[in-house]
Amino acid sequence: MKALERLQKILAQAGIASRRKCEELILSGAVEVNGEKVTTLGVKADPAVDTIAVNGRPIKGEKKIYVMMNKLKGVITSAKDPQGRKTVTDFLPGIKERVYPVGRLDYDTEGLLLLTNDGEFANLLTHPKHHVPKTYHATVKGVPHGSALEQLQKGIKLEDGMTAPAEVEYHDVDTEKNEATITITIYEGRNRQVRRMFEAINHKVIRLKRVRFGELTLQTLGRGKYRHLTPQEVDELKSEAMKTHKVHKK
Ligand code: URA
Repeated sequence: MKALERLQKILAQAGIASRRKCEELILSGAVEVNGEKVTTLGVKADPAVDTIAVNGRPIKGEKKIYVMMNKLKGVITSAKDPQGRKTVTDFLPGIKERVYPVGRLDYDTEGLLLLTNDGEFANLLTHPKHHVPKTYHATVKGVPHGSALEQLQKGIKLEDGMTAPAEVEYHDVDTEKNEATITITIYEGRNRQVRRMFEAINHKVIRLKRVRFGELTLQTLGRGKYRHLTPQEVDELKSEAMKTHKVHKK
C-alpha cells in the first residue's frame, strides 16, 4: 500500500535533522529520490518504495516489523472499519508503525494472523503461485464421513473452481454434541475457502481457528495477544514461500 509523504517529513523521521533543516538540505540540492536530485519543497515520496539519499547516502527506510497475532473471533482483519467494529489494530498496543495483515481471516475466524509493514514479504506469502501451507481446526455441525473428507483432500468443486489437494484428518469427534473438529491444511488462500469447502460437503463450520502458517504455530501465544517474529522465523517463512513456489511451478 502506498503512503506518500513530504520528503522533509520522511527525512526528519529518519533522524537526518529537524524538519526545517531538512527543508534546507532539499533546497541546497543534497537530496535525491530514486537517483534524481530534488531541489523544491513539496515533493512527496514513499520510503517503503523509493530510494532516498542525502549527500549520496541512502537513508534507512521505516523499520520493518513482523508480528504474529492470535486473533479473536469478532475482530475485523483490516486497519479501519467504517462500521466501527473492533479491528486487529486495536490489538497491537505498542506498535506505532502502520502494519497490514498478510492475507485475511474472516470476522468470525480466530487464530494465527501475520501482520507486517513489509509489502514484499506480504506479497511473497500471499501470492497464489506460492503455496504456503495454512492449517485450521474447523469444528463442524455433524460428523463428516471419511469419504466426504477424502473429497476435500482430493479437491472439491467450488463456485470459483476446483480446490487444490488438501490434507484433512479428524482432530476430535463429539458424538453427544454431534460435532467434529477436523484439521485441514490448505495451500491456497481463497475467500472463505475452508468454510466453503465444508459447505460443499454439507457440514456447516461453527468454529474456525488457524493454528499454523508455514512452520509457525501459535504455541503459548494467548488469545488476542501478539508477539514479534524473530529474524529467523521471518527468514524461514520467506524460504518456505520460495521453496513451495519451485515445487509447484509448472
Ligand atoms: N478459510 C475461511 O473460510 N475463513 C478464514 O478466515 C480463513 C480460511
